[in-house]
Amino acid sequence: MADKVIIFDTTLRDGEQSPGASMNKDEKLRIARQLERLKVDVIEAGFAASSNGDFEAVQTIASAIKDSTICSLSRANDKDIARAAEALKGANSARIHTFIATSALHMEKKLRMTPDEVFEQAKLAVRFARNLVPDVEFSPEDGYRSDPDFLCRVIEAVIAEGATTINVPDTVGYAVPELYGNFIKRLRERIPNSDKAIWSVHCHNDLGMAVANSLAGVKIGGARQIECTINGLGERAGNCSLEEVVMALKTRRDYFGLDLGIDTKHILAASRMVSQTTGFVVQPNKAVVGANAFAHASGIHQDGVLKARDTYEIMRAEDVGWSNNKIVLGKLSGRNAFKQRLQELGVQMESEADINSAFSKFKELADRKSEIFDEDILALASDEAVMHDHEQYRFVSLSQRSETGERPQASIVFTINELEVKSSSDGNGPVDASLKAIEAQVNSGAEMVLYSVNAISGSTESQGEVTVRLQNSGRVVNGVGSDPDIIVASAKAYLSALNKLQSKADRVAAQG
Ligand code: KIV
Ligand code: ZN
Repeated sequence: MADKVIIFDTTLRDGEQSPGASMNKDEKLRIARQLERLKVDVIEAGFAASSNGDFEAVQTIASAIKDSTICSLSRANDKDIARAAEALKGANSARIHTFIATSALHMEKKLRMTPDEVFEQAKLAVRFARNLVPDVEFSPEDGYRSDPDFLCRVIEAVIAEGATTINVPDTVGYAVPELYGNFIKRLRERIPNSDKAIWSVHCHNDLGMAVANSLAGVKIGGARQIECTINGLGERAGNCSLEEVVMALKTRRDYFGLDLGIDTKHILAASRMVSQTTGFVVQPNKAVVGANAFAHASGIHQDGVLKARDTYEIMRAEDVGWSNNKIVLGKLSGRNAFKQRLQELGVQMESEADINSAFSKFKELADRKSEIFDEDILALASDEAVMHDHEQYRFVSLSQRSETGERPQASIVFTINELEVKSSSDGNGPVDASLKAIEAQVNSGAEMVLYSVNAISGSTESQGEVTVRLQNSGRVVNGVGSDPDIIVASAKAYLSALNKLQSKADRVAAQG
């Protein structure tokens, strides 16, 4: 039996740190359930000490998810670690992931600590965490740019304190594959107790090499855990993409010779769920999950694939979930069929009342759109999840008038803390008029930095999915709205972004 690589997903922690990608508790829970279906080994559910919202999300996921280990990040201090342990209490299998920066640059400029102080703090943090849970991961932040001698000293000490996983982050995406692989190899060779821990890679994608670096860390360095995110979501250019690294290991098993526990047929649904929840659209030519990943446009390629699929395809589309992308329900489908499809898609609603509410929205949609795809159901479930976050603003109805040569007008009804308000405005186009009508009541002062429309399932019959990114006082949030009417979808997206701005205002920026 070959070695197994542990897949550690950090979509809900590092991925969520991506500007605008913040998610509420229900959204995170839904994604965690999908990660469990994927059979991800470890789910980093958040950073419990960073805010009450993160604490609750980690706590909820820890109680709900039974098959994956649930992990919380924590800085290397007792208060953060105790908070992480508290949030993880309900977990079947819990991990505390504690970190402190070890590069000269970070220690001097960011932490303003001496190497000896960092050394002591790392040791004490791991000792404290090991008293609370048996599974403790330690990360020397900016590890790849740290002095190898100092790193060896710190890592040897934390393993002696009981760290069970040692992660070597390339925090700023500076590594290149061969050097990163050899860096880990040498650390493992030099540290006398290195065999007492599992080694892990955590690569950012600033130079587009996160997946290649992670694979080199495994192949050359001997790491047996990969930290990654769905769609490569994450700070700046993102993290190592789960779907790419998993399919590379699986497709080239002849070369890597390593096993994985991942059930790859749930990859596409996970990708769509993360994209719809965060508003980060997946580029069509993205490996594995992009719309064109298995499409063949040129005649020669089409001809080849028809004669023998492996002429141009190295993976089977159905192995990552593409064949599940079919029409599932329609106008005549009943509540049971709807409920079953929700379950198959990994969407778990909190109560029968929630299912009823989602089902009546499904019926409304089916009246307007003959074919309901999985993506429509996921979008609908996203709307339900957002509604649970006790949002301040909620869409009710909209009417608009536009005619060639006339300035468009829109009137919108929405609720502010359950109270209905009506507002009207004109604008350059009907979308502009609708959003101006909302802003006339709300006066958020937020700046719109992105507006995009995407057809959820391809044709003009499909629902429009709108992403609105707002920025206010240094905070950036994405709102997503979907509807067959893109003006309504735009208004919903705008209100969803305003709700997120509101809830994000309460968050403490605790990340180091
Ligand atoms: O990129 C990084 O260094 C991190 C650590 C907290 C592991 O995300
Ligand atoms: Zn990171």
